Parts: sequence; structure tokens; C-alpha cells
Amino acid sequence: MTKWTREELVAQALQARERAYAPYSNYLVGAALLGKSGRVYTGCNVENAVYPLCTCAERTAVVKAVSEGEREFVALAVATKNGGAPCGSCRQTLREFGEDIAVIIADDSGAYRETTVAELLPDSFGPEDVVA
Ligand code: THU
Repeated sequence: MTKWTREELVAQALQARERAYAPYSNYLVGAALLGKSGRVYTGCNVENAVYPLCTCAERTAVVKAVSEGEREFVALAVATKNGGAPCGSCRQTLREFGEDIAVIIADDSGAYRETTVAELLPDSFGPEDVVA
């Protein structure tokens, strides 16, 4: 995985998880998104007293990366207490930037499993489907 190992990406997601702002759910989530440049963009969930405004860790990482000029991604690691999988909104957000992105789903012990955006979101709608 370029210069990063899966374990290193998981470690970065676990570190990002420590910065989660989740006073309402207490469900802390961290993410680490590896760009093709080799740079890693981390993210955590950021909740809000107006609940629908909560932002997931994965989407925080994607927004950080794209706003820094990176649009091509190799892998995303996501870390939670229990190894929860990315939500539907985050799957679609990742899919915008590719179906081959590896998704590494870890729990707080560092144990992980690996899948892809295509596996998490089959038969998806993407940029090439937007036709006038
Ligand atoms: N959450 C994430 O950060 N990523 C996901 O893929 C699933 C859910 C967050 C949103 C909210 O802050 C908390 O976890 C409980 O849903």
C-alpha cells in the first residue's frame, strides 16, 4: 500500500478516533484516507446538538483531502470500538472517487478486515452516470 502498511493506516485511524467529538452518541470514530500521492488525511466524527448536522469520520477525511487538492485514493481505514462498517452516506461519498478504494475496517484492538468500495456499495451510481 505504497509506503504505508495496513497496520499503519489503522494506527492513524485509531489516533484520529481519539479526537472524535461525539458527546451525544459517545460512539467514537476515526478514519485515515491514503491518497495516491502517499499523503494520509485523517478524520473523526464531529457531532452537533442539532443531530442531523453530525459529520462522520470518513466524510471528514474525504473533505479534508479534496479541499487540499487530492482526488485519487488508495485506501481508507476506519476505526470504531466494535469494528462497525461505514454508513451508506460515507460509502457513496467514497464511491465518488473510485470503486477500487480499499476499505479497512478496524476495532479498538487494532484487529481489522479489508473490503472495497465496490463490495460495500454494489451496483452503485457514480459520476459517469450523471448524463444530461
Ligand atoms: N459515524 C461515523 O463517523 N462513521 C460511520 O460510518 C458511521 C457513523 C458516526 C456518526 C455519529 O457521530 C456516530 O458515529 C453514531 O452514529
